[in-house]
Amino acid sequence: MLPTRGWIESPFYQAPERFNGVCSVQTDLYSVGALLYQMIFGLQPWFIDLSHYKQEEQIPALLQQRQKPLVIPSMDIFELDDALINIITKALSNHVDARFQTAEEFSKALKGEIIIQKVQTSQAVTVPKKRRGNGFADVAGMKELKEQLQSDVIQILKQPERAKELGLSIPNGILFYGPPGCGKTFFAERFAEEIGCNYMYTLCSDVASPYIHGGQGKIAALFDEARKKAPTILFLDEVEAMIMDRSKHTNVSEQGEVNEFLAQLNNCGEAGVMVIAATNKPSLIDPAALRAGRLEQKFYIPQPDKETRMELFKIGLKNRKTELGIDYEKLAKLTENRVSADIKFIIDTAARMVFKRNM
Ligand SMILES: Nc1ncnc2c1ncn2[C@@H]1O[C@H](COP(=O)(O)OP(=O)(O)OP(=O)(O)O)[C@@H](O)[C@H]1O
Ligand SMILES: [Mg+2]
Repeated sequence: MLPTRGWIESPFYQAPERFNGVCSVQTDLYSVGALLYQMIFGLQPWFIDLSHYKQEEQIPALLQQRQKPLVIPSMDIFELDDALINIITKALSNHVDARFQTAEEFSKALKGEIIIQKVQTSQAVTVPKKRRGNGFADVAGMKELKEQLQSDVIQILKQPERAKELGLSIPNGILFYGPPGCGKTFFAERFAEEIGCNYMYTLCSDVASPYIHGGQGKIAALFDEARKKAPTILFLDEVEAMIMDRSKHTNVSEQGEVNEFLAQLNNCGEAGVMVIAATNKPSLIDPAALRAGRLEQKFYIPQPDKETRMELFKIGLKNRKTELGIDYEKLAKLTENRVSADIKFIIDTAARMVFKRNM
């Protein structure tokens, strides 16, 4: 039997109860299951790169990862037998009672002498399906940003096995910054549509709490939910109010919340969660949130140029009754220095005027 205290080798072979010093036959059988998983798939179950975590954060991060369904990678070289998948999933159950109770039972299952029923937690890697909405097709301009996110995120989600071979995961976080009304929030929503993944919108008030450190619990719950529904885009709007520069704040509760965000941001990409944060005041964000491994990619969303303004008019008028032969070039020239939100407002106002006239 394995020693009950401390882990020297990889913790990925250890059953959850071992981290609390509890050990039994079922604990050892979990390790056998983990070894079997590695022999078949070439990686440890629920693997995450622990080097990105502080020592004290490693086990909580690992246990949190195990809340997600066990990934059964599809194999090109041989076909996986359902019975074997059921055996591995049972052996790696988080609950002692759901695992093999004896080595004999495990061995009989492997020999096919007993049939193991499908365990609900098993899940093959799935390619996300496109969600409702037109995605990037509704976004005027921002060509480079669309292309970069196509290769850095969308292709990785579409080809998980290839990405895994190269040790690639989606970025943990990206930051959109720039003047108000130029499409930061709008782009994040269309991006989630383009991927077809779960989208969670969060404002500072959603994670605020009247209790000291109450916000920390809300932040942890938010990321938990995002992980459960992965792949998820977790959008933090007006992030400067959430991850405030700690050097400018002395409030213990606020500092705790910032620390919680920083801890949660570490490697959330590996769990299929990508954080998109938006701000028009980037200098107010804690610098630790902007380093590699957190909001590591930064994109400036500028005021729309002439081409983009033309596109904004075209997209905005696409599904509205209009006269033929609209001069989009002229509209773009007339709206120099206007932001995207202004152009939407102009189109809406024009439509309202026509509506009133015909009443
Ligand atoms: N690239 C775009 N293509 C089409 N419409 C856009 C684009 N950018 C912005 N819009 C329109 O402008 C509106 C305002 O944009 P949005 O709310 O995303 O701005 P923002 O940058 O998040 O502003 P703030 O910093 O004030 O939050 C959107 O609701 C959308 O209708
Ligand atoms: Mg916004």
